[in-house]
Amino acid sequence: MRLHKENVPIHRERARTGVTCPLMIPIDRSALPRHIACVMDGNGRWAEQRDLPRVEGHKMGEHALFETVAGALDLGIEWLTVYAFSTENWKRPPDEVKFLINFNEDILLRRQQELHESGVQIRFIGRTDWRVPKRLTRLMADATELTKNNTKLKFTIAFNYGGRAEIVDAVKSLVKTGIAPDKITEKMLARHLYDPQMPDVDLMIRTSGEYRTSNFLLWELAYSEMWFTDTLWPDFDRTDIAKAIYDFQNRTRRYGGVTA
Ligand code: IPE
Ligand code: IPE
Ligand code: MG
Repeated sequence: MRLHKENVPIHRERARTGVTCPLMIPIDRSALPRHIACVMDGNGRWAEQRDLPRVEGHKMGEHALFETVAGALDLGIEWLTVYAFSTENWKRPPDEVKFLINFNEDILLRRQQELHESGVQIRFIGRTDWRVPKRLTRLMADATELTKNNTKLKFTIAFNYGGRAEIVDAVKSLVKTGIAPDKITEKMLARHLYDPQMPDVDLMIRTSGEYRTSNFLLWELAYSEMWFTDTLWPDFDRTDIAKAIYDFQNRTRRYGGVTA
């Protein structure tokens, strides 16, 4: 049983075997999902299975996160969004919440330069309410500014994010424009979401054997294909991404219509 995985810099990670190679998964690079969103779940259980404190699972999740980023870069995915902290995660024990906040700060500080050099554009969605420390908000703004002209991958971190909160915030912002209620359209509301440029999700991945959205991207997931795995997030790797994409490519998306 491997207890520790070394965090490898993205360029070294990418130089290793290509994403499609481990299982020779035949991914069609002309039909990639434009936007992949991940619910990174199962860190706590990963640690509990090893009699370790839950936070050790979060620490090990960093490896999976950067493996996912490297995989997305490798394949040329345009948008990758990850669920880092939900509006409901404040319910957790204060020590775990504190750890998660500090850990997000720490990852940003340690690895934003590397993401920048890999051509990743870092973006954030979520509420910046009083519970999010100013220091983290500043770090998020700095990372956004540093990487804003990068074009390889739009990598969005959902922090203090809730799908319902996002819709409520969008409605508030739209109503403030003074629009007449009967003039409101879906497109208009979408322009008031946290990131109006973000396209709908094509493929949602959730680890840890839970089959739910847990309030992630409720609006953007409307016609997303969903892929679930029992693998716990710290064990997730590029082979899993390849499997998910392969599965995605073998589905028929109908959007409520009929197949020709
Ligand atoms: C996901 O792992 C990480 C966050 C929610 C921040 P969990 O901490 O939810 O792990 P489990 O689901 O308890 O195993
Ligand atoms: C969803 O996982 C939130 C994140 C991954 C950040 P949770 O572990 O919080 O979701 P539930 O409680 O199992 O629905
Ligand atoms: Mg969980």
